[in-house]
Amino acid sequence: MIYADYNGSAPLLPSVREYLKKRIDSDLFANPNAIHSMGQKVMKGLERCREIISSVMGCYPDQVIFNSGSSEGISHIVFSVLENAPAERRIILSSPQEHVVMPSVFNSYCERRGFTLVLAEIDEHGRVKIDQLREYLEKNGSKVALISIMAANNETGVIQPFEEIAKLANAQKIDYLCDTTQLIGKGRFHFENSGVSFAVCSGHKVGALPGTGFIMARDPQKLSSLVYGSSQEKGLRGGTQNYLGIETLAVALKDFQDHEAGLDTLKSARLNFEAQIKNQFPKAVVIAEKAERLAGTTLLGYPGLHGQAVQIELESQDIFVTTSAACSDNQPETSQILRAMGVDDQIGRSVIRISLSYSHGEKDYALLASALVSAYNKLGKIHSF
Ligand SMILES: Cc1ncc(COP(=O)(O)O)c(C=O)c1O
Repeated sequence: MIYADYNGSAPLLPSVREYLKKRIDSDLFANPNAIHSMGQKVMKGLERCREIISSVMGCYPDQVIFNSGSSEGISHIVFSVLENAPAERRIILSSPQEHVVMPSVFNSYCERRGFTLVLAEIDEHGRVKIDQLREYLEKNGSKVALISIMAANNETGVIQPFEEIAKLANAQKIDYLCDTTQLIGKGRFHFENSGVSFAVCSGHKVGALPGTGFIMARDPQKLSSLVYGSSQEKGLRGGTQNYLGIETLAVALKDFQDHEAGLDTLKSARLNFEAQIKNQFPKAVVIAEKAERLAGTTLLGYPGLHGQAVQIELESQDIFVTTSAACSDNQPETSQILRAMGVDDQIGRSVIRISLSYSHGEKDYALLASALVSAYNKLGKIHSF
């Protein structure tokens, strides 16, 4: 079996499973906000996790705010920044590739409050056109309240020039929310060096427990409360902390740090796999082939075939992939992200997404390649290519 949907959700890491098995037998369960010694012990553990996470992420512990994941994190940041935006800053600058959270926050909240959404163009490699963005900001930067452009795309794996965008944002004192959900745990990221104002992490994307995550904020005082309650997370996020989940986040990110070199092995195995498939099927298309992408992400199309048919064929061989992002996997259409890149329907409808992690390598890609070759050959006979 190969589970190749790490961009959708990563299974619990073996180190997290081991940790949890022992942790559950420990008897240390208490409200971390209680003043009795059990509560204080849990709180001490939680703060230790904040230290570990901040050291892996390249930020200070007090810049980490724990929450339930990236949908909450993005909503929290957008609400906070826009609530405090000066009247002359009414533009949100984003991209057509953002995860569905961003457009839905815009539709449900920002538009009603008089903000306008401007989408930066992206090129055929899936990258934001940085020169155009620079020009736009030179003319309109003083009207922009927030830039929201992701670090790595969930479908294509394309890595955006977020450090350059951060420089442009900082030069004009614009807050920059960088959706780092896909990059963290799958690529190298250092919060302080990146220059972004806000970043987010989702536990289920990094092999920790689902329903966990955190925001990193350069200046946490810019955040107001989204979930009201007591003074947890310095009053920025009410509710009893999910301390077990937070502990798994620390274990998972430490695991990533210890095995970061695996990214290089993964990348070279992925490139070999893509070359092999293209060699055997010259019509096959690797989306955004020339762009820098997440080490373990391939979005692969074969004009004329249906992505779901390929997915089902692979599943019959115990290999689990998606046709696009998990949230739009049941829509047999070219995704909005691919449309923005100018990908036509023949290819757009045929794609499957293969996403693996730093624990994978040549062996996994060899199995994938042989399953895919037989799927393409079988479906090719039906569709006569
Ligand atoms: C790029 C990106 N941003 C945000 C999210 C939402 O994350 P969560 O599931 O933690 O709410 C996802 C999840 O698919 C994602 O891929």
